[in-house]
Parts: sequence; structure tokens; C-alpha cells
Amino acid sequence: MSTTTSSIPSTMRGVLCTAIGDPSVLSYRTDLPVPQPTTGQILIRNSYAGVNYIDTYFRSGIYPSPKPEILGRDGEGVIVALGEGETYGLKLGQRVVWMGSGGYAEYSAVPALHVAPIPDGIPETIAVASLLQGLTALTMIRESHHTKAGEWCLVHAAAGGVGLWLCQLLKALGARVIGTASTPEKIAQAHGAGAEKMINYSTTTSADLVAQIMELTGGQGVAAVFDGVGKDTFDDDLKVVKRKGTVVSFGNASGVVPPFAISKLAPKCIKLLRPQVFGYIATRQEFTTYTAELFRFIMENKIEVKVHKVYDLQDAQLVHEDLEGRKTMGKLLMRV
Ligand SMILES: NC(=O)c1ccc[n+]([C@@H]2O[C@H](COP(=O)([O-])OP(=O)(O)OC[C@H]3O[C@@H](n4cnc5c(N)ncnc54)[C@H](OP(=O)(O)O)[C@@H]3O)[C@@H](O)[C@H]2O)c1
Repeated sequence: MSTTTSSIPSTMRGVLCTAIGDPSVLSYRTDLPVPQPTTGQILIRNSYAGVNYIDTYFRSGIYPSPKPEILGRDGEGVIVALGEGETYGLKLGQRVVWMGSGGYAEYSAVPALHVAPIPDGIPETIAVASLLQGLTALTMIRESHHTKAGEWCLVHAAAGGVGLWLCQLLKALGARVIGTASTPEKIAQAHGAGAEKMINYSTTTSADLVAQIMELTGGQGVAAVFDGVGKDTFDDDLKVVKRKGTVVSFGNASGVVPPFAISKLAPKCIKLLRPQVFGYIATRQEFTTYTAELFRFIMENKIEVKVHKVYDLQDAQLVHEDLEGRKTMGKLLMRV
């Protein structure tokens, strides 16, 4: 470790995912070793840990990873140590937001490449509520499908963390959003975020959903589908996307999309992508460019960042139950 502040303890509080399983495998501990930053890493003392749907995939084994492990892909806190190597001018004591791993803990050692100083105008919790989900939405509307004003887009789980970002950013670009959600409360929330038309996909048959979207779009279908739901919605995505349109499949909240014959894409010349946000921010320049744009949206009040709830770190099991139980809207955070 090249540079540190004076007092970093050897143990810390955190939540260990002890095995693959249901939320009961998440164990709150007070004796976890504080990680050491390796080359190119920075040690952060977290004030908030972000929670993302991907955390449930690592816990349940949908995405394989060695156990035990500390989950958590984003956080907000203060830099307390800089590792050797390139640390992009970041400084001890700076208030930052980060993307990486090991967030459900007091300290996280994370790649400097994905650490951003928080601008003064952005209040506590908002940067961490924005970074991963906001960058996911922003990179998808810029790169997965270069969205244009006036075109129709379909956003599934439109009241979720990424969903609310997509609704607002697409509206800001002048696109027209059709959203889906499972409750009247979620439908109202997504409407407020800019979705012009909402469909409750838990009370609508698949045939009805397709018919409504085709009618709204004058029989053409949507230019792009943004789908983080996966298994339950994928087949309909191919029906409602227009000729030469794009299906962006970016998650598996209902389960993984099963293998399918690519010839299904042929009749309408559909473009299909399965992006991940880290692939769009792999260089420091990409990360800082998109992060600066994201922060601008927030500081210019063009986006309202919705935090569902700030939980305590000890309540990680409940956080996962609420997220998988579809009880949440917007971003979930844990106070560290
Ligand atoms: N590719 C990437 O880089 C990337 C990055 C970030 C997130 N993601 C993906 O984006 C999606 C959204 O992530 P998020 O963190 O913002 O979560 P979220 O949308 O806040 O939560 C997931 C939502 O999915 C909906 N859903 C539909 N079927 C479900 C089911 N069977 N079980 C549980 N939920 C179901 C629920 O909304 P309703 O109740 O309204 O249906 C639920 O609230 C996830 O698939 C995540 O993996 C991908």
C-alpha cells in the first residue's frame, strides 16, 4: 500500500455470503478482515453500500462466484488508502462513489478506474443511488440502441432501479416510452418518470400486451425494447419490436432467457444485444465521460433519483427478500 490515512483497523463489519442459497446465507459479521488495496486499487471507507439485482444472482448461483464472498457492486464513501500504480489523481479524504465488488462492508478495495469524486452539488446517497443503474441506462440508450427523438421504446420493470432511469433518460431524449410494471403503485411511479403508456404485465395476458403495443405504435412495433426481466418477457419482445428494431436484453430478474434459434430474428431483421455496463466503461475515459454526463443530468435537475429505502447493513437478508419479492421501486441502499 503506498499511501494511507493514519488509522485503518484490521477488522470490520460486513455481510458475508456464506454459500449459494436463499437470503438466509447472508451473514452479518463484525470480524471480517479489512481488504488491502492491490496495484491500481483504492481503499474506501464506505458510508453507503448500493444493492443491485445482480447481487441476488451471485447469491443464488445464477452467476457463479467463489463463496464465501462479500457481495455489493457499488458504494459511497471516503478514500482512506491508495494502492501502487495508476490511481488517476484521486486523493486521500476525497468523497467518492465507486463501482467494483465487496460493497456490503465498512471498507472496500476497488479499482481506481471506477472511482469518481462526487461533485459538491450532489447530496449524500444520490451519487451511489445513481452510478451503476444510471450508467447502465445511459450507456444502453447511447450505445446498445442509439435512441432517437420521437421513436417508441418499451421498458420492462419500468419502476425498478434501472427502469426509472431509462424512463427519464428516454423522455429527456424525446423518445416515447411504453413501460411495464406489476402494481398500480409502480405504474404511477413510472408514469411520473415519463412513461407515456404503462401496462400492468401481471394482470394482462401476453396476447393483450402485444396487441396493446402494436395498436399504440400504429401496427409498427417499438424501435427498441429494454428488457431486464428476461425469461418471462423475451418471447414477447420479439413480437413487439418493429422491423429492423433492437432488443436489448440486459438482465434476468424472472430467470435466464433460455437458448433459442437465432433464425427467429430473421423475418424482421431484429438486432439483439446482451450488454453489460462494465463493457461500456472499460477505460477511464469512457467511465469519466459517462459519469460526468450522469452527474450533469442530476445537477441540472433533469433526473429525479428515487431511493426506495435506506436499510441497515444488518438487514441485508430483508433487503434481498424485498428486492426479489418485487416490493421495491428505485434504488436500494444500506447504511454502513
Ligand atoms: N447488464 C447490466 O450491466 C446490468 C446492470 C444493472 C442491472 N442489470 C439488470 O437490470 C435489471 C434491473 O436491475 P435493478 O437492480 O434495477 O432491479 P429492479 O428493476 O429494481 O428490480 C427488479 C424488478 O424486476 C421485476 N420483475 C419481473 N419479474 C420478476 C420476478 N419474477 N422476480 C423478481 N422481479 C421481477 C420487478 O418489477 P415489477 O414488480 O414491476 O415486475 C422487480 O422490481 C436486472 O435484471 C439486473 O440484473 C443489468
